[in-house]
Amino acid sequence: MRAVTWQGKRDVRVETVPDPRIEEPTDAVIKVTSSGLCGSDLHLYEVLTPFMTPGDILGHEPMGIVEEVGAGVPHLKPGDRVVVPFQIACGHCWMCTSGLPTQCETTQVTEEGMGAALFGYTRLYGAVPGGQAEYLRVPQAQFGPIKVPEGPADDRFLYLSDVLPTAWQAVEYAAVPPGGSVAVLGLGPIGDMSCRIALHRGAAQVIGVDLVPERLQRARERGVEVFDLNAFDKQGELVDAIRERTAGRGPDAVIDAVGTEAHGSPVARTQQNAAGLLPKAWAARLHQKMGADRLAALYLAIDLVRRGGTISLSGVYGGAADPLPMLTLFDKQVQLRMGQANVRRWVDDILPLLTDDDPLGVDGFATHHVPLTDAPHAYKMFQQKQDGAVKVVMHP
Ligand SMILES: NC(=O)c1ccc[n+]([C@@H]2O[C@H](COP(=O)([O-])OP(=O)(O)OC[C@H]3O[C@@H](n4cnc5c(N)ncnc54)[C@H](O)[C@@H]3O)[C@@H](O)[C@H]2O)c1
Ligand SMILES: [Zn+2]
Ligand SMILES: [Zn+2]
Repeated sequence: MRAVTWQGKRDVRVETVPDPRIEEPTDAVIKVTSSGLCGSDLHLYEVLTPFMTPGDILGHEPMGIVEEVGAGVPHLKPGDRVVVPFQIACGHCWMCTSGLPTQCETTQVTEEGMGAALFGYTRLYGAVPGGQAEYLRVPQAQFGPIKVPEGPADDRFLYLSDVLPTAWQAVEYAAVPPGGSVAVLGLGPIGDMSCRIALHRGAAQVIGVDLVPERLQRARERGVEVFDLNAFDKQGELVDAIRERTAGRGPDAVIDAVGTEAHGSPVARTQQNAAGLLPKAWAARLHQKMGADRLAALYLAIDLVRRGGTISLSGVYGGAADPLPMLTLFDKQVQLRMGQANVRRWVDDILPLLTDDDPLGVDGFATHHVPLTDAPHAYKMFQQKQDGAVKVVMHP
């Protein structure tokens, strides 16, 4: 089959690889019809390269048609239409039954000290072949895949794999009080959808911050009060401007939908780039012992949130030695919640919103639909924010 493979820093290629097959009774194989490109894929493209192996198949936002199932997957049959969550979880361990499938005790990557395995996401997360491919082997298929109805185009359901539950969890963890305010940093797919969900769930004031004009515009059109990072010389000026709009206190909650590659973090950027030049084993060790994120967005969140407010991190962070302003965090009595999205936990809340009247605007959410064979261009376009790309969906 054809699959998008990682070959090196900023080098992905579509290659012919062996077809996946059923290996365990709890496996399914699906024929992929749509596969999203995510901000998380961009971290692999550029920063997390020490944990990748050339040839790794990328992608963790797939949906498609069941091709084959193992004997241990009674609820699925060939021909079923399914969306596959980005994390692999068993559904029956203590963590899964506690609503934390990202911490699944059956699939935890214990050799690396990490949580549940993820599709297409480095050896830290189990080096599981991903879903930007014609076919995907889905382990633990007795729990993961979500059956969806026939009829609407894939885009209606595709974002159940990641964007929707991630944004839903971001808003849930933000705990915006009734009539309250939330600022969302980063208006990529996750931040944009977090704004939509916050508005839908009744936040009285939703503020968005980014620096890409068409991303700001997209959010503005849906009723978000947007601030362009580029319009401010210093972080303090932006914070003052937003405080002025939030009764002088700052928003009740801040969602960081940027993560480790935040624009405006020169020191860590140099370190991340330097690590990329080292031999692979050294770079991995450096990253695990001394790695630092580009923390501009997190610092902004800490500064911005009102005293006693909540910061919800959905942007991915991976640093082992990040300097944090504990004085400010402690003194402001900030509540901090974070993590990969527990996909299945939120699906029942989200599915009723995926209807013809489309309150979250999923049908028109993608800016680009491209053939899988265009993946090298799609990665570049999405990373460099060319051609108005916000959400790119690939089709094998
Ligand atoms: N927690 C999860 O389960 C989960 C799931 C999916 C994605 N993510 C993470 O969420 C983050 C966003 O993903 P995405 O797909 O929306 O990616 P994206 O890269 O398209 O979005 C990031 C946005 O942040 C903006 N930005 C950069 N620096 C900024 C700054 N200093 N202040 C404000 N905005 C800034 C960028 O212009 C961009 O629009 C990534 O870190 C991704 O890895 C987490
Ligand atoms: Zn994703
Ligand atoms: Zn489990």
